[in-house]
Amino acid sequence: MRSIRECVDSECDSISRVRPLTDQGMVAQVISHALVRCGGIHRSVTLYSLSFGGSNFHVHPRTYVHGFLQKQIKTAIIILTKKIKSMGKIIIANWKMNPQNEKNAVKLACQSDFLNVVIAPPFPFFGAVKKVLKKAKLGAQDMFWEEQGAYTGEISPRMLKKLGAHYVIIGHSERRALGETDTIVNKKVVAALKTGLKVILCIGEPRQVRNKGLTAVKNFISKQFKADLKGLNLKSYNSKLTIAYEPVWAVSLGRYDKHGKSDTPENAGYMIQWIKKFLNSRFLIRNSMVLYGGSVNLKNAKSFLGLEGIDGALVGGASLRINEFKKIIRISQSN
Ligand code: PGA
Repeated sequence: MRSIRECVDSECDSISRVRPLTDQGMVAQVISHALVRCGGIHRSVTLYSLSFGGSNFHVHPRTYVHGFLQKQIKTAIIILTKKIKSMGKIIIANWKMNPQNEKNAVKLACQSDFLNVVIAPPFPFFGAVKKVLKKAKLGAQDMFWEEQGAYTGEISPRMLKKLGAHYVIIGHSERRALGETDTIVNKKVVAALKTGLKVILCIGEPRQVRNKGLTAVKNFISKQFKADLKGLNLKSYNSKLTIAYEPVWAVSLGRYDKHGKSDTPENAGYMIQWIKKFLNSRFLIRNSMVLYGGSVNLKNAKSFLGLEGIDGALVGGASLRINEFKKIIRISQSN
């Protein structure tokens, strides 16, 4: 028989990555399902009035709760409480083609090493960065979709896993600007998920589309999703997929667009909620993780990370300014 700890863990993984667990209804559901998995009860029951950290719970009146089950529920609550406490919003540090040498990469990594942080360094610094990370996870900025063969300059998902990567960023607007199409993005997403990597899929509209208004933006993004996630059974990959909503014109303060600046928190918040609803209705992904990215810095981090429904941020430039980045991480932990 599996222990209640194992069952709570696998239940959490199958539901979502982390954030929705702060919802009381979801906690009750996790515990109820975990009890079924570990053989405590035969079918799920409705648990009422769960309070974190204590044993204050009730179960459905028709369910007989014997001593063993009571103990299991108490244990499950304690495990979940710990889990929830250790799970803040996620911050991805996308270093892009920086810094310029391994010494600086290691220094930056050591100082950015916090829970719920993902560090995506350039490939040559992977090994050195991996060695010093204790809490943060390693991420790649890109990958190829084939496993091996005559593909000059490419790196496979399995190679990334072997190097210790947990995450891979796919479809970043700076790569799309170099010619990466939705078809390519789709191949990469499929290959990464199949290999067991967690995907951070970047989507977002260019300036011309935003100028046409919100309906045009939603049409653009829904097309991007349909193409990028084509053919995937997302129910089984739900916990492995994180979306980064990054309006192209807001990334790197308009490197590709001289009128560029960060989005307003109101717009970003609206789009994040819309994306969650869209993923739920179109792909049956409940509780998707959606981050905002595009010139997040110390000045605006609080207003972005305080948004209802936001699960974190993808930070480029500011992740290289260590004092600023550490403050952004602190803001993410308290929001
Ligand atoms: P930025 O980059 O924070 O420098 O705009 C964001 C990103 O990498 O997408």
